[in-house]
Amino acid sequence: MRLLIVSNRLPVSLKFRNEEFYMEKSAGGLVSGLSDYLASLKNSTADIKEYLWLGWPGISVKKKHQEVVRKKIQNHYNASPVFLSEELMEKVYLGFCNKTIWPLFHYFPNYAVFDREFWGEYKKVNEIFRDELLKIIRPDDIIWVHDYHLMLLPQLLREKVNNPIGFFLHIPFPAYEIFRMLPGESRAGLLNGLLGADLIGFHTHDYSQYFLRCVLRILGLEHHMGRIDLQGRAVKVDTFPMGVDYNKFNKMVVQNPHPDLPAKEDQKVVLSVDRLDYSKGILNRLKGFELFLHNNPQWHGKVRMSMIVVPSRIGVDSYQDIKSSLDEWVGYINGMYGSFKWTPVIYQYTSLPQKDLISMFRLSDVALLTPLRDGMNLVAKEFVASRNDKKGVLILSEFTGASKELSESLIINPNSIDEIAEAIKTALSIPEKKQICGNNAMQLRLKRYDITKWASDFVDSLTEIRNISDSSFRDKFLSDEIIRDLLTDYRNSSRKIIIVNYDGTLVPLSGNPKTAKPSKELLELLNNIQKQSGTDIVILSGRGKDDLGKWLGIIPVNLTAEYGSWIKEHDSDEWTQLKPLSGEWKEDILPILELYTGRLPGAQIREKDYSLSWHYHKADIEQAPFIAQELTDHLISITANIDIQIFHGNKVLEISNSGINKGDLAWHWLDRKKYDFILAIGAGWSDELLFQSLPATAYSIKVGMTQTDARYMMEKQEQVIDLLKGLL
Ligand code: UDP
Ligand code: G6P
Repeated sequence: MRLLIVSNRLPVSLKFRNEEFYMEKSAGGLVSGLSDYLASLKNSTADIKEYLWLGWPGISVKKKHQEVVRKKIQNHYNASPVFLSEELMEKVYLGFCNKTIWPLFHYFPNYAVFDREFWGEYKKVNEIFRDELLKIIRPDDIIWVHDYHLMLLPQLLREKVNNPIGFFLHIPFPAYEIFRMLPGESRAGLLNGLLGADLIGFHTHDYSQYFLRCVLRILGLEHHMGRIDLQGRAVKVDTFPMGVDYNKFNKMVVQNPHPDLPAKEDQKVVLSVDRLDYSKGILNRLKGFELFLHNNPQWHGKVRMSMIVVPSRIGVDSYQDIKSSLDEWVGYINGMYGSFKWTPVIYQYTSLPQKDLISMFRLSDVALLTPLRDGMNLVAKEFVASRNDKKGVLILSEFTGASKELSESLIINPNSIDEIAEAIKTALSIPEKKQICGNNAMQLRLKRYDITKWASDFVDSLTEIRNISDSSFRDKFLSDEIIRDLLTDYRNSSRKIIIVNYDGTLVPLSGNPKTAKPSKELLELLNNIQKQSGTDIVILSGRGKDDLGKWLGIIPVNLTAEYGSWIKEHDSDEWTQLKPLSGEWKEDILPILELYTGRLPGAQIREKDYSLSWHYHKADIEQAPFIAQELTDHLISITANIDIQIFHGNKVLEISNSGINKGDLAWHWLDRKKYDFILAIGAGWSDELLFQSLPATAYSIKVGMTQTDARYMMEKQEQVIDLLKGLL
């Protein structure tokens, strides 16, 4: 099994200086985490033995240089570059990705730019990635797409290949009210793009829930325990909090403490590490540190803040603005509080190699991480993991994904400068014993779900949902081979019964039920089948007897109306009842249905002779299930002494006399003869009761590619007609 990792960034970014290419490690948590995971595969016993990483090399490369660059990257990094033009990167990487999605998903809608052109170009880049992948995909590859730059890629691939596809979002997924700000096609487009994957992973439960809510509200697709059933396949949405390579951070031997750090006894060190990004709350952090110094003169000269700020996305204005403010604030604090002997804030605008970073983590007293929003924040986990002395205090924003797992740290709201200042003071005075106790608990958690566990959990879940999807859908597709078997069995049997639903099965579903009359051809077809020796046809419908009698009574087939309240034998004109039914109860139930219909705009009542149904498919998709449940509870509480039943179907409550359902009714016919061939075809929720009641040898077929208890499924209603024609 080979793993294809696909992300916008490759583990290395290309630079071109003095007419030469060279490569630097890329910034950010995605690259750190995945690189550590892929490195761990070398000594692992996992099924994945091989991998390839596809991504953009970080700059545009002239055609004449592309082959050299490709070779360089392939030979050193098990990776393959996807080349993109300067113009595309301007509109997509700097545009749609980092001026639209990034600010919006991090709850900075005022920074978000909505430019129509961006969306079209974003689609183009996703298509370029698809085309590059199609050149190399092998049938046994697992494809794992990462992050917000490639949210359309899963669907684009799904249209072309059948490989397992996973997607992981490394940034927050926002609440519906923020997500819906995306204009035009992009809103549903991004969701549909992601649903091409078999498994969609997020860092936290909240992000998963927000995504599911957007899918429900915007696409109208419901889920059950995170599983969304689409036409013919299942998609799973789940939470996988990304971890770190615990052992590496904890065990790495660092011989040379970072030269910038003072001797331990001199000063306490408050460490701050991030990419330069407005989402990281760096200014609030500086303001908090300033307030701490203002409020606590006793600490002057005894504490300093070491800031590592990694350059990032320099081409985006909002990033440049934040850089100027940062410079001003550092200057202000050092000017206001510093002296010749003491610089309160030491600030490096660079990216450190991980070895140096670990050294900094171990020699600091406090790590101060104050993102206003952060999908995970691996730095927080790395700080805790690195502390093999178990000392040090982490101050962490509640708006990071990591705060869910690092609850023993000092959790703060970074929007409050007072809270930051107060937390710094508290952190500096926490006794060592308490530090060790808290870090110990957090380390156990980080060790248990480290980066390898995170990735293997994701890949295992991907395999699992594929198996479930295959057994619920793919394995049930009514193939030509099964049709051949079915027809042979039909021909070789002597007593045959065909039980078939009407709407959506014999005729297409119609917006107006009154117009769904059978065609002359259909009547002729049914008549000819019925005439074949040893064949009985039963049409089993939820419709009232008037329509059915008028439309189908003219040919000699058996009819069942209102789910079995009424029966008409093929050789009779009379509608009869299997048992005496009563409709008196409707008088008591109708006012209740009316009350709930008033409360739920879009709900409708339909009345038949012996049943009532309450439909809510036109009502608000989130509100309706609650009202329907309340109505069900209400009905159950008052109908204990009445002989009626309540079925909860697909967006409908059906109230009828007990024992009247397609499952029980089928046996009224099946019990009459020893049938050696049973074929049942249906399209609606009520047909599921029929499928469930049939013996295992029966051919049961669901029309429509949704979850079913039938043995087989077919995609379109017209296929039913083709199958019936085959019986002749
Ligand atoms: N990092 C690094 N050198 C630095 C600063 C950060 O290698 O000087 C790494 C750090 O170890 C971490 C990653 O960059 O793995 C940052 O990931 P995080 O999830 O904290 O934030 P992101 O940048 O992805 O938003
Ligand atoms: C975050 C994103 C990554 C991205 C990284 C660095 O971690 O989730 O997808 O690679 O930031 O940003 P950059 O724009 O340099 O790729």
